[in-house]
Amino acid sequence: MARMAQIRNIVILTGAGISAESGIDTFRSAGGLWEQHNVEDVATPEGFARDPDLVLGFYDMRRAALTKVRPNRAHDALARLEAEFAGEVLIVTQNVDDLHERAGASRILHMHGQLGSALCLACEMRSPIETALAERPPCPVCQARSLRPDVVWFGEMPYQMERIYAALREADLFVSIGTSGAVYPAAGFVRDARNLGVQTLELNLERSEGSHWFHESRHGKAGELVPAWVEEVLGSST
Ligand code: OAD
Repeated sequence: MARMAQIRNIVILTGAGISAESGIDTFRSAGGLWEQHNVEDVATPEGFARDPDLVLGFYDMRRAALTKVRPNRAHDALARLEAEFAGEVLIVTQNVDDLHERAGASRILHMHGQLGSALCLACEMRSPIETALAERPPCPVCQARSLRPDVVWFGEMPYQMERIYAALREADLFVSIGTSGAVYPAAGFVRDARNLGVQTLELNLERSEGSHWFHESRHGKAGELVPAWVEEVLGSST
């Protein structure tokens, strides 16, 4: 990246590609989650109303799978960046896994929610999930057996949008890692950033739907590209 020494404020968007090398399926690759499951059935409010057991079971399965995976070099590198960079780093993730947290990062906004959290349809409070939701555990706050996964479904508003746009307005550099650029509003952040005069960089396995919007696009595995980029940033900012 040009002018790296002048970068003080970095906003990083991550998608399923950053967790792929940990062994979590992405959505749109061949054999990915949206080939294995029908999006309308498992990721919409209508699908949940039609067949709650199917939907609760789908998210219970994805949550259980998290216990078998670990953060990879890309998550580790972003946690290192947060710890060592002299300026500000914010991770905005579309991922519902907890691998950024487990790698040690702490400034994270989960715009599509989190597998480990439940949302009560009766009292609207959030709580950490202790028991499979398909077993209909009571809400720890109001005791209603009305918990749903605290994830954003198609047709619902992503979380934290005001904080994300505020962060973009303050940013000098926007970096997108491992996301196909197929789902809005996240897919539009690169254009929002450019309109604000922010430098933009994409790190992705291959060209994405949004690659042409970025000032620079690097292709390869996140586990290689991200540590190399973090090295570059830390090397030029000290
Ligand atoms: P996708 O599955 O759409 O895209 C993953 C991207 O990661 C693709 O562009 C891959 O080329 C890239 N990729 C795969 N392996 C990689 C690797 N090892 N290193 C780097 N890049 C790699 O996933 P997302 O863009 O995250 O939303 O999907 C966005 C949203 O669509 C998700 O949050 C989810 C989904 O429907 C909801 O469920 C609301």
